[in-house]
Amino acid sequence: MEIHRTGTADIDRKKSNKKKRRRRAKSNADPSQETSQHRGEHTAQNSKRKKRKSGDGGCFPQKEFNCSAKTTASTEKQIQNGMHAEHTKPKQSVSKSSSLLDKMRARLSGGHFRMLNEKLYTCRGSEALELFQNDPSLFSVYHAGYQEQMSHWPQQPVDIIIKWLKDHSPSLVVADFGCGDAKLAKSVKNKVFSLDLVSCEPSVIACDMAHTPLISSSVDVAVFCLSLMGTDFPNYLKEAHRVLKPRGWLLVAEVKSRLDPGNGGADPNKFIKSLQSLGFSIVSKDFSNKMFMLFYFQKEKERTPEVKHIDWPKLKACLYKRR
Ligand SMILES: C[S@@+](CC[C@H](N)C(=O)[O-])C[C@H]1O[C@@H](n2cnc3c(N)ncnc32)[C@H](O)[C@@H]1O
Repeated sequence: MEIHRTGTADIDRKKSNKKKRRRRAKSNADPSQETSQHRGEHTAQNSKRKKRKSGDGGCFPQKEFNCSAKTTASTEKQIQNGMHAEHTKPKQSVSKSSSLLDKMRARLSGGHFRMLNEKLYTCRGSEALELFQNDPSLFSVYHAGYQEQMSHWPQQPVDIIIKWLKDHSPSLVVADFGCGDAKLAKSVKNKVFSLDLVSCEPSVIACDMAHTPLISSSVDVAVFCLSLMGTDFPNYLKEAHRVLKPRGWLLVAEVKSRLDPGNGGADPNKFIKSLQSLGFSIVSKDFSNKMFMLFYFQKEKERTPEVKHIDWPKLKACLYKRR
């Protein structure tokens, strides 16, 4: 009996082992048949993975993680294929990157402007003419930067000179030495000879203003609006003296710091004295503006005897700050 019972127990054990083996084989083939404990672990891991993917709890929010990886790869591919990256990017990042590019371009052109500006203040007119004639695009770079700087000035000296001309007879013939964009000529009725290193307008005469093609004693008003830049600026003033009629006007606007002895600049009285030696008399001066000074001279009737040496003051460069 004992044996029988044992035999029955053996048979039962065998049956149960067989069942267990079948169950185990089945569960290996289908994970859904795992124990509830296992199933629980899987569910938690799956939901953690899902959370990471959906960006609502993982370290890498989906937008940044997935998109940057995807966009970079696909953008690179499209650039390689000749397509502009902008086509593949969401709108906001396009405007962000293009405004960054704009800022970088502005910095570069700002730096280029300051370099050209310094060059113009530290070389002779003949050298500046050669530089700009060899590459006239430098003139556009310079003037874009110059206009940017001027936009921060509360008042522009050229506007004061335009007003002065409007208050006088329109029959006065004007020579604008270093006219830039020729704003003066465009703003008055007078006949204006606009002179600069590059002719940005058909009416502008391209030359070094130390040597203009103008006829002697043919001009009523000579204007230098922030244009006494070259180290040989006395030659520009001598040229103005040559082309001016007797009693003709010489109007000079200069950056204040260049003629401010308290700020490393020259003595304005020394500047006036030099021009007196050249044959001009000072009519008035205006130092009221914070940014620039104005001088109003007239050519003396009788030409003063040739002076051998004039002790011109040294005018320091006007270097614009990075904004
Ligand atoms: C600071 S900008 C002033 C432009 C204009 N007068 C104004 O007020 O808007 C000086 C101008 O003088 C010109 N210039 C400097 N040296 C010159 C030279 N030797 N001969 C002719 N033009 C010169 C520059 O090219 C530049 O356009």
